Amino acid sequence: MIKIAPSILAADPLNLERDVIAAEKAGCDWIHVDIMDAHFVPNLAYSPDVVRRLREVTSLPLDVHLMMDHPETLAETFLDAGADSLTIHAEADTDIKTLLKEIRARGRLAGVAIRPHTPLKTALPYLEDAKLVLVMTVEPGFGGQKLDEHVIGKIRTLRDLGYKGQIEADGGITEHNLPMLAENGLTVAVMGTALFHAEDMEACVRRLHDV
Ligand code: DX5
Ligand code: ZN
Repeated sequence: MIKIAPSILAADPLNLERDVIAAEKAGCDWIHVDIMDAHFVPNLAYSPDVVRRLREVTSLPLDVHLMMDHPETLAETFLDAGADSLTIHAEADTDIKTLLKEIRARGRLAGVAIRPHTPLKTALPYLEDAKLVLVMTVEPGFGGQKLDEHVIGKIRTLRDLGYKGQIEADGGITEHNLPMLAENGLTVAVMGTALFHAEDMEACVRRLHDV
C-alpha cells in the first residue's frame, strides 16, 4: 500500500491545525512539511516552530523536506522539533554524507532528494546512508504544478539497482498518475493540491490506498 503524505504547502496556512487533523482523520500516513529558504527555491515556507506545534497536534510521522542551500544550519533544530524523517537535497551546498549520518544517529529516517533535472547518479553516493530517496516530480518551490513523467525512470532505475529504501515522489501527483508511479516502485506519494482540493479527502485516500 502506497503511503499518502499530504503536503501542507497546499493546506490553508491560517488553518494548518484544522487541515492536518482532517488529513489524519482521512487516513493519510505521513504529514509532508516543505521547508524553503528563498535561496535554494524562490519561495519561503515554515519554521521549526511549526514542526514543533504539528508534533503536538498529530500522531502521524512528520516528513520534513528541507529545500535549503545550507540544511546543516537547521537540521538539528528540526530534529529537536520532532521531525521523523528529514530529507536534504543532493544539490545542497553542504557535506551530504555527514549530515545524513547525523540524522540517522538521531534515530530518524534520513532522506536525499533530487530535482527533476538532476541526474540520478548525483544521489547514488548517498544510498547507503539515505533510507529514503525523494525524487521531485516538479521543480521544487511551488505546489499545483504538472508531474514531469521523465522522472518515473529514476524510480525504476533505483529499484533495478536493488535499492530497498523508501522511494518518495513529490509534486503533481494525482489519482490518475499514481498507479504508474506505484508500478515502478514508489512507496510514498506526496500530494498537496490533489488531496486538499479533493471533494471528499477520505474517499480519495481510500482509493489511493487501493492503488
Ligand atoms: C513543491 C513541494 C511539494 C508540493 C506538492 O516544492 O515540495 O511538496 O507542495 O504539491 P502538489 O501535490 O500540489 O504538487
Ligand atoms: Zn516537498
